[in-house]
Amino acid sequence: MKLKLSIRRQDRFETFEVPYKEGMTLLDALKYIKEYIDPSLAFRQFCGAGICGTCAVNVNGFPKLICKEQALSYALEESPTVLEPLNNAEIVKDLVIDTSNMSHRIKAYKAWITPVENNLKINQELSKKIEEASDCILCYACQSFCPEVTDKDYAGPLFFAKLYRLFVDPRDREHDIRLLEAKDTLILHCLSCNKCNNACPKEVKPATLIRELLDS
Ligand code: SF4
Ligand code: SF4
Ligand code: FES
Repeated sequence: MKLKLSIRRQDRFETFEVPYKEGMTLLDALKYIKEYIDPSLAFRQFCGAGICGTCAVNVNGFPKLICKEQALSYALEESPTVLEPLNNAEIVKDLVIDTSNMSHRIKAYKAWITPVENNLKINQELSKKIEEASDCILCYACQSFCPEVTDKDYAGPLFFAKLYRLFVDPRDREHDIRLLEAKDTLILHCLSCNKCNNACPKEVKPATLIRELLDS
């Protein structure tokens, strides 16, 4: 059985056929192409285990971590599986995008905790929410799928998921000011369409977190 992949390479699509092996992931298929067919194919990967967030690409138009995406169902299809770089970012080459804008935005936001002086404790529910938001692996899937990110003023779902704690943790001296500012400006672009929730491979649910921030 052959897995057919149609890969966007700058302004064209190129189709490759990869012999399917049991347990193969889409990332394994790209590695096969790079090793045996075209060493110039560019894609990112590191952990191979859904942890580092570097391998996300669009698979038939939907963002996926391809190291966790089994190839079998795609190999059974007649038509090629289409792989494209994520949206809402500049393409560096083939499937590689430049997400440095987001890193700069997070750095510029001074995204660190300024602790209050007393030993304030937080309740279990809030602690759990902060923990769940911190599962974000910065894969950019939500950001690429958000229809509002094209508006340069909107920081996007990744920003609010990754920095969720800074808006809600009472142990941070700045949290209430940040929340007020965000509610006045940053978050208002969100359409609450839930696309980011659907795209997130780690169940972080950015749209739900954003709604909670707006309602708090
Ligand atoms: S819910 Fe908001 S942040 Fe999420 S994709 Fe829709 S507009 Fe973007
Ligand atoms: S919130 Fe989810 S989809 Fe968005 S960057 Fe984090 S892990 Fe990826
Ligand atoms: S290679 Fe690390 S998440 Fe896929």
